[in-house]
Amino acid sequence: MLRPVAYGLRQSAMSLFKLKCMVNGEKFDGEIDASRTLLEFIRGDRGLKGTKEGCGEGECGACLVLVDGKAVNSCLMMAAQLNGRALTTIEGLKGRDGGLHPLQKAFIEEGAVQCGFCTPGAILAAEALLREKPSAALEEIKLGLTGNFCRCTGYEKIIDAVVKVRDGEIAK
Ligand code: FES
Ligand code: FES
Repeated sequence: MLRPVAYGLRQSAMSLFKLKCMVNGEKFDGEIDASRTLLEFIRGDRGLKGTKEGCGEGECGACLVLVDGKAVNSCLMMAAQLNGRALTTIEGLKGRDGGLHPLQKAFIEEGAVQCGFCTPGAILAAEALLREKPSAALEEIKLGLTGNFCRCTGYEKIIDAVVKVRDGEIAK
């Protein structure tokens, strides 16, 4: 009985924000609920379900995306903060031929994908890292992925996949 009343109050209090940004290379220009997190905008408003919701508190990295090429936990950022910036989710990551990105190929080849829940965030974290440090040392790669929890792989295969891309062993 309480729910509809509470929901009604939230609706009447909702304020709108005019958001202009790029989403996976396409312009977005529209009004959003100003209280939306970036994660809610991505999954709920844009329907990009590759970005996962895990902890909702900035701990697990499942919701990690790129904003202006930098890794961001989207559960901790408001959608309005995307204004004037460029968002890349896993759906927007592509290889030069428009097919799979080298990191996606490497994750498959190395068996670094099991349930897949952590995979989009881990791949985008690795992408941000290799953009900033194309020759990242092994320890830097491990450090760069410490914010991405994986309950399945034991991490070694994920690290191996990133090393493979760093070493140019996967066609771009
Ligand atoms: Fe954002 Fe866990 S859902 S860090
Ligand atoms: Fe299942 Fe990483 S593959 S959590």
